Amino acid sequence: MTLISKIDENNIDKEEIKKQAEILRKGKTVIFPTETVYGLGANALDEDAVSKIYKAKGRPSDNPLIVHIYDKKQVNNLAKDISEKANIIMDKFWPGPITIILNKKNIVPMRTSGGLDTVAIRMPSNKVAKALLEEVKLPIAAPSANISGRPSPTKGIHVYNEMNNRVDGIIIGGDCSFGLESTVLDLTSDIPTILRPGSITKEDLEAVIGQVNMDKALERKEDNIKAKAPGMKYKHYSPNAEVFIVSGKIDDVANKINELVNNNSKKRLKTAVMCLEENKNRYNCDTIVLGKDLQEVAANLFSALISVDEKKYDVVYTEEFSNYGVGRAIMNRLLKSAGYKVIKC
Ligand code: TXA
Ligand code: MG
Repeated sequence: MTLISKIDENNIDKEEIKKQAEILRKGKTVIFPTETVYGLGANALDEDAVSKIYKAKGRPSDNPLIVHIYDKKQVNNLAKDISEKANIIMDKFWPGPITIILNKKNIVPMRTSGGLDTVAIRMPSNKVAKALLEEVKLPIAAPSANISGRPSPTKGIHVYNEMNNRVDGIIIGGDCSFGLESTVLDLTSDIPTILRPGSITKEDLEAVIGQVNMDKALERKEDNIKAKAPGMKYKHYSPNAEVFIVSGKIDDVANKINELVNNNSKKRLKTAVMCLEENKNRYNCDTIVLGKDLQEVAANLFSALISVDEKKYDVVYTEEFSNYGVGRAIMNRLLKSAGYKVIKC
């Protein structure tokens, strides 16, 4: 049985928070909202508890988890060699949607760090997450609360539908305001490196700590796209429908998509287009409007991908977005959900 608590972030029910914190203290799993996506939490210092996270998600155990805290003082218990740049990032961006990678202390089990000598740490700003972490007073390991490979949930209803009875507790709060997972920044080398782009961008970080690199692996995958060598092994954030990114000038993109839609309807494939608000009338099939601007696209992307399954589409075409600022994070997630399939026009 899963204990479900509905909690309003503007009027936090402390009794419900206490019940969920008690579940975590017993070494069990609780899903909670954050400002990025919902997280599936357990005591980060308890190997058995952490094992339950991997089991609930069906996640490979070499994929390390992010440890969530509510007070910067907790960092010293978990990590060592904390650099000046790390301190600047924590002071400037926490609580908020950025995770930092530091060398770990022995107290963090290898199961939490996926066998690495480093640990990922994040202090969320969502009020419900903060209340839970403060009540439980333990560092909480939490990956996104989706079954491995599926889009991350950003709405309570999506969490409930996918995870009820797979975990011990679920806190249903509001929608996640950022909608994409946190930026992951590796601070263990001299020049910090972004391992996963997010709402806090390379430009935001460079403004406070100077040069920041993007992980080579992110670039290599972009080469794959140019080479049109989609690797199914990279598939992630995927709905059941087949997703394609259509790239080019918007007039050409619209023509191409409309041509593909016609072919699909002959084959009786149910098709939708994910697009910006301003383009929705260009397409002669169902549209899923992602928003007016990149911030809105980021916030709506995962729930749009989940709705694709609810409406049982077979094929989804999506417009391409600028690969700059938060656009980089959007394109990173879209490319994965499309299994790197890009149609160039
Ligand atoms: O916004 C978020 O970060 C959400 C919420 C719940 O906080 N969490 C999340 O966790 O997205 P997850 O497990 O879905 O993604 C964590 C990412 C993975 O790509 C993982 O490989 C990477 O962070 N990661 C974690 N620890 C790491 C480490 N020590 N070194 C390198 N990468 C690490
Ligand atoms: Mg995830």
